Amino acid sequence: MSGVVAAAGVVAVAPAARLRGRLRVPGDKSITHRALLLAGLAAGRSRIADASDALDPNSTAACLRALGVTIERLTDDDGFAAWTVASPGVEGWRAPAGSLDCGNSGTTLRLLAGILAGTPLATILDGDDSLRRRPVARIIEPLRAMGATLHARADDTLPPLSVTGRRPLRPIDHATPVPSAQVKSAVLLAGLAAVGTTTVRESVATRDHTERMLRARGVAVTSEVDGPGGPVVVSVEGGQTVRPIDERIPGDISAAAFWLVAGAAHPDAQLVLERVGVNPTRRRVLDLLRAMGADIVERPLVSDGGEPVGDLEVRSSELRAIEMGPADVAAAIDEVPVLCLAAACARGTTRIRGAGELRHKESDRLAGIAEGLAGLGARIDISGDDFVIEGGAGRPFFGLHAGEARSHDDHRLAMTFAIAGLLAGGPATFDGGASVAVSYPGFFRDLERARA
Ligand code: S3P
Repeated sequence: MSGVVAAAGVVAVAPAARLRGRLRVPGDKSITHRALLLAGLAAGRSRIADASDALDPNSTAACLRALGVTIERLTDDDGFAAWTVASPGVEGWRAPAGSLDCGNSGTTLRLLAGILAGTPLATILDGDDSLRRRPVARIIEPLRAMGATLHARADDTLPPLSVTGRRPLRPIDHATPVPSAQVKSAVLLAGLAAVGTTTVRESVATRDHTERMLRARGVAVTSEVDGPGGPVVVSVEGGQTVRPIDERIPGDISAAAFWLVAGAAHPDAQLVLERVGVNPTRRRVLDLLRAMGADIVERPLVSDGGEPVGDLEVRSSELRAIEMGPADVAAAIDEVPVLCLAAACARGTTRIRGAGELRHKESDRLAGIAEGLAGLGARIDISGDDFVIEGGAGRPFFGLHAGEARSHDDHRLAMTFAIAGLLAGGPATFDGGASVAVSYPGFFRDLERARA
C-alpha cells in the first residue's frame, strides 16, 4: 500500500515498517518571520539563506512588499528559500493599497502590528477564517497605551485589526497577561519607535528570537532572566537603528519535533535531523522527550547567527509518562500536540497541566488533538485546561489503530495525525492535508523518505 494517499484534501498515512534516514527540516518559521520583518525595518539590503519557504513566512513577505519593501525570493530544489530584501527603512514604508493579508499567520499579524504602531501609516491587518478567530486584545491594549490607535472586530477582540500608528510612541512597562513571544515581540518592536525605555515582563520565558536578532542587528536589548525558563524582564531603548545583515536560518525544531516523536516511539527507527535550531527557549520539546526516555543524541554545530544549532539523532526508545506544567506548555507551545502523541505511546499516565492557550492557536488544539488522537485509539481526555493521557506502551501498536481524525485545517494537527499513522496498526485518515504547507511544505515528501 502506498504510504500517503491524497484525495480531495483527505490523506491516509499507512503504518511504517521502519523509519530511517537523514532529513533536513525547513528553516525555522519564527526566525524567518523575524528575519524578514527586521530586514524590512533596516535601510539597505539583507540576505536570508536557508529560510522557511512555507506559507506563513510568505505571508510576511507579501505584507512587507505591500508596504514598499522589495523582496526577491530564490528557492532551491529542496523547498528552502533564499530571500533578498531591499528596504528604504521603516521610515520609507508607504501605505498599502488595501488591507494587509496575513493569511493563516498570527506571528505576521501581531509582530507587524507592533511595528506599524510606530509609523504614521493607517493599515488594516486581516487574514483567513482561522486568523479571524484569534485573539488580538492582548496586543491592542499595550500598543494603545503606547499611543497608537487600534480597533478590531467583535469589541476589539478579533481581526481584522486596524492600526493607525504614530511616531514617537510612549514607552511602557508591560506585564504580559499570558506568556506569548508574539505579544512580547510586538511591544519590543513598537518600543523601537518610543522615546525612552520600553519593558516587557513575562512570568515564564518565551522564545527570545526577537531579542537575539535585534542584538545581531546592532540594537541593544537587555534581558534579566530569573533562573532557567523565567520570569524574564526585557527592555529596549527607543530610537536605535536596525542594521541590515546577512543571515542563515537554522532548521525548525517545531518541525523536527514530529520526527523526534516518530523516531523515539517507532520500534524500528533511526533518524538524523540536520542543522536544527536548539535555542534554549525553544529546546524544551527535546528535553521533555529525553525526560520521557527518548534516545536523542545532539551534535552541536557551529552556528553563523546568534542561534545555536545541532544535528539531532533519534532512535527507537521505550517512552515513559511524565508530568508537564504551564511553564513546559509555554516553552513547547507548538509541540504540545505531538507531545500528546508521544504520551499516548508511553508507559503510564501523562498529565499536561495548564494547556488552555492551545485553544487560541490555528484551531482549538486542546479539543482537536484530544478528539483526533482518541479517534485513532489513544486514551486521551481533557480535564479543564489539562490533558490526561494514558499511555499505550505494551499494547500492540500502543493501542493506535486505523481511524479517522479531523485536522480543522491546522498544520500541526494534520502532521501529528500523520505521525500517528506511521505508528498505528492501520492507516490514519484525516482531512486538510494541504494545511501542512503553512509551516512544512515538504512534510509528506520527508515522510516517504523516512519510511523508505
Ligand atoms: C510564535 C510564538 C508562539 C507560537 C507561534 C510562533 C512566534 O505564539 O505558538 O507559532 O514566532 O513568536 P504565542 O507567542 O502567541 O504563544
